[in-house]
Order: sequence, then structure tokens, then C-alpha cells
Amino acid sequence: MQKVLILDFGGQYNLLIARRVREQRVYCELHPHNMPLDEIRRFDPIGIIFTGGPHSVYLPDAPTVDPGVFTLGVPILGICYGCQLMAQRLGGRVTAAQDDSAREYGKTPTVLDPDCSLFEGIGGESVTWMSHGDYMAEIPAGFSLAAHSAACPTAAICDEARRFFGVQFHPEVNHTERGRELLHNFLYGICGAEGNWTMADYKAQAIEDIRAKVGGGKALLALSGGVDSSVAAALLSEAIGGQLSCVFVDHGLMRKDEGDEVEAAFARRELNFIRINAEDRFLSRLAGIEEPERKRKIIGEEFIRVFEEAAHAIGSVDFLVQGTIYPDVIESGKGEAAVIKSHHNVGGLPDHVDFKEILEPLRLLFKDEVRQLGRELGLPEALVSRQPFPGPGLAIRVIGAITKEKLELLREADAIFREEMARAGCAADQYFAALTNMRSVGVMGDGRSYDYAIALRSVQTSDFMTADFSRLPWELLDRVSVRIVNEVRGVNRVLYDITSKPPATVEYE
Ligand code: XMP
Repeated sequence: MQKVLILDFGGQYNLLIARRVREQRVYCELHPHNMPLDEIRRFDPIGIIFTGGPHSVYLPDAPTVDPGVFTLGVPILGICYGCQLMAQRLGGRVTAAQDDSAREYGKTPTVLDPDCSLFEGIGGESVTWMSHGDYMAEIPAGFSLAAHSAACPTAAICDEARRFFGVQFHPEVNHTERGRELLHNFLYGICGAEGNWTMADYKAQAIEDIRAKVGGGKALLALSGGVDSSVAAALLSEAIGGQLSCVFVDHGLMRKDEGDEVEAAFARRELNFIRINAEDRFLSRLAGIEEPERKRKIIGEEFIRVFEEAAHAIGSVDFLVQGTIYPDVIESGKGEAAVIKSHHNVGGLPDHVDFKEILEPLRLLFKDEVRQLGRELGLPEALVSRQPFPGPGLAIRVIGAITKEKLELLREADAIFREEMARAGCAADQYFAALTNMRSVGVMGDGRSYDYAIALRSVQTSDFMTADFSRLPWELLDRVSVRIVNEVRGVNRVLYDITSKPPATVEYE
């Protein structure tokens, strides 16, 4: 399989570079910049990309690469810091940009030289995204200048003979108008990519790898019903069938019919599917608890406990399967990028489960690739395209103390909202109903009511770190409101949340 190696210098867009390469049907992996030369050789890349990064190449502790990388005969594309590093290592000179010269940030008109193979078909002026305080004061021997902006004469360099290219700007971000074409030129024109990486190939390879690793051993997986663990379960079941046991802990905090949908999705697969209906256990431990973090902690602990009990019944296993995906790997600080997100998933690793090794069959995939793999494995679309759902489930969408009645009421309201969104063909990254802890006076028929208010939340976001509320059509909100108040007893008011994140968060607790 053709592979591209991305060496990570700590830039904030590094994952995005990997994403863009795979979008062009070329497999790639992101590795630390100090990957040993032997390993790079073994990886056998058709091309190497050096990412951007926050450092200055001329400072003593600046991250660098094994210089042997320049002797492999493999094409290299340096981006921002990666470009400066290549320039410096090959004999050029990089300095801090002077105040009035080449320091640039943001959208920058840049002239690309069509004679450089990197810019074939995209020569001339276009907008690029710049973000640099250093610049190449002298370019190395063998290179020629291939782009300039008003402030920076050295916006790109190329050495066609050695197939080394460097751009000062970021082709991976959308603001760079011809960025995708540039990467396409590098991958296809320069590295000779054939673009034949498909999810079917990935699936076949993954199944082969899992079989080789697991042999005749046993594996255990905690199935939450989320996309990642469901796809991992389907993949493992296809690879090792009955050697896999899946424990699905239904904590009673799922949305309407969700527990049954998960069970149905696995009913005909070869695996030992164990569903544990633990609603009563969870609800009794949560009774009277109002504080959100306390709820999360209880659910996390109880989840592990129930899972452990089921695991004990199975006995010792060789592998514990986790649905870790690529952004988790990077964000857990295993890559060079700073740790950005504090994970708030249910539980952690169970302490008392007897296993030898952890298996993470999705650790190289992005979320949408996981969904694609799920489709390839024949999982139902409702499961594969499921929106993110918090581990603690509806417990953090019922504000304040939880009761079975409140959960029922919320489930009905939420189902109506989702149904109407689907019917209207409305797309949002996450949307749901929450039960506020507020009751208010209303008038129903000729009588007075004193019932709960449901809050509807819908957001657009790419990373869930920030989010904007969705501008949903009034007609849709009207329909949802009328239906909820008419069909769900105990609700007499529907509110639509128009706060973005920050200052609010997506969830209410
Ligand atoms: P917030 O509320 O932090 O949500 O803006 C951002 C994203 O994270 C999800 N979320 C959680 N996921 N356990 C999870 O597994 C949690 O405790 C949790 N809290 C929030 C939320 O649904 C949104 O997608």
C-alpha cells in the first residue's frame, strides 16, 4: 500500500494535513519529527510532509529531523516551519522577519510560479493563509524561488531535481484557495500516488491484522452504542467472530428506543453479545443527585462496576478492545501537538478485568472514516451517522435530580424534535432536547397548568470546542413546539436556546 509520512513539528493544523491527504485517497500517518531514520525507511513512504510548528529553527532546542531523510530519494514537502527547517538544514538561512518585512498572518495574496511542478495548473495570484514570524532570508543551493507575496519574497521554494518543495503558507486550511490542488500536485504529480486507498482495502487489511494478532485468543469489548465502539465491534466480529464478547451496559439513560436499536444491529452477527439492563442500578445511585459532576462520576463508576461484573462471568481474556480513534490518539498528547481537550468520557479502564493487551483497531482513523468503515461493514445508517452523544447520556440533559418519569418525558420530547428535524431535512452537528428544572404557569384548554419547560438545543460546529447555535426555520420550531406541548404530558413550554459556545456549552450540565 502506498503511504505518505507526515512528520509532526507541533503545528495546530497537523491533523488537518493528514485529513487532506487521506481525502485524496492516499493513506498517510502522522509521526513525531524525531522518528528514527530506520523506522522511516521501514515505513517506506512515497512522500514525506514536514508540518508547521510554533518554534524557530535557529533557536537551540528547535525540533529537527534526522538529516538522513534528505538522502532517501523520497519527495519532501515542507509546510511553514517544515519549509524553514528544510531550508536551514540544506544550507539556507532563516531569520526572524523584520517588523516591516516578511512577518505575515492571515489571508495573503500570493503569486505562485506555474513552472514549479507543485503549482502546475494553479500558477498566478491567489489567496494563501500565512502564519509566520520567521522567513527564509537565503534559500539553499539547488533551490529556486517559486512564490512571493507583497511582504515576503520567499513564499515557496523548489528543487525539482531532488523533488524537495517548501511553502511558507498553509495549503491544508480552507483559506488557501488552491491548497487542495497543491496537495494533489504533490501527491499525484510528484510522489506518483495512484489514489487507490479505499475503505474496503482498509477493512480487508484490518481484518487480516486483527486475525494475525489475536490468533486463537479471546477479546472483550465494552459497547456503548456510540459510533466508535459499534464499528469496532462489527470489525472484530467479522475478524474473529465468536472469540469476541461484547458487553453492552444499558444504563437507562439512552434516547428513545436506542438500546433496542443497538441490540438489533448486532443480533445477526457472530459474537457473544451480552446486554445488561442496569437502569435500576443507575437510577437508584443517581436518586436525588443534582450536581452535574457528581452525576458524571457516579455514572462512570457504576459503568465500570457493571462491566467488570460481566467480565468476571466471561473469565480471563487476552485482549480488551477500545474504540480509540485518531484524534483521541493525537489529543491525548501522544503526538507533538499540545493537549487541547480534557476528555470527559464515561469511566476509564476497568481495574479488575483480566486481560493481557489492549487492542485499538480504529486508532488510525478519523471520525468520518470510522463512519465509512461502519457502512462498509454493513451497520445500519442510523447507527453509523449517529450524532455525538455524551457518555452520561440523558443524565446531563435532565437538569437537576433525575427520575424515571423525567427521563421518559425528555425521551418523548427529544424524539419529536429529532423526527421533525429529519422530516424538514435540517442538518446540524448536534441537536437534542433537554428538560429544564423549571416549571411555569400555562393555560391548557380552559385550565391552568403548572408544568416543565423543554429546551431545544441545536448547534453547528466542526470541533465541539466552539459552536454556534443553528438558525433553524421558525416553521420547524413552531411544529416541534406544538407537537411537544400536545403530545408530552407534563410539558407546557418549549424554549429554543440561542447561545453559542462560548460562553455557553453544548450540553446543559
Ligand atoms: P460541552 O457541553 O462540553 O460538549 O460543550 C462538547 C461535546 O462533548 C459532549 N459531552 C460529553 N461527552 N461525556 C461525553 O462522552 C461527557 O460527560 C460529556 N459532556 C459533554 C457533548 O455532547 C458535545 O458533543
